[in-house]
Amino acid sequence: MVQMKAWRAQQGMSTIESVVAVAVGTVGLIVAIVLLVQYSVASYGTRDVSGEAAMSHEAIAARIKPVGDIAMFDPSAPQLAAAAVPVAATTSAPAGDKGEATFKAVCTGCHSAGVLGSPKFGDKAAWAPRIAQGMDALYEHAIKGKNSMPAKGGNPALADDDVKAAVQYMVKAAK
Ligand code: HEC
Repeated sequence: MVQMKAWRAQQGMSTIESVVAVAVGTVGLIVAIVLLVQYSVASYGTRDVSGEAAMSHEAIAARIKPVGDIAMFDPSAPQLAAAAVPVAATTSAPAGDKGEATFKAVCTGCHSAGVLGSPKFGDKAAWAPRIAQGMDALYEHAIKGKNSMPAKGGNPALADDDVKAAVQYMVKAAK
């Protein structure tokens, strides 16, 4: 304190002035820290990503390549090809096939592994309480969505009947 007083006297500052000086200094320090954080966050956000594996031309091409490509040229993916056939050609197919094709094209992404807590395909224990709600409730939840379950599995282009067929296919496998 003695030193402080001496310093103040030397600077010709009153108590109020020195309080103001300390306050201004503190605010300045906080502003400087905020600016530094902003600067480092910004420089991370705009850093050069060309060195990252995920940003290689091959990886980008693989990510953005059209989905239809697989359905048309990959003979080992018959289910996808079946789903890509115009509706008129599939209406004569029994519901089971349509259900399986829809499941494999759209629903499997979550329901095969139980992603987001979805009832796993073929898991009787997970499906029992859901089946107990009745088919109409299951259809409605599959078509309109429920919590993390997106409406029509996230594919609004699906016909209601295809979604219902997929529900039947999943329910049958879990009974
Ligand atoms: C993005 C992941 C995802 C996809 C894709 C998805 N589901 Fe689901 N599904 C869920 C989740 C999560 C639940 C559990 C929802 C809950 O009960 O909270 C669920 C639940 C269900 C239920 C049970 C609803 C109930 O009332 O308990 C049915 C039926 C269902 N899905 C059908 C389908 C069908 C049919 C498709 C394909 C057309 C599909 N799901 C695609 C995530 C998905």
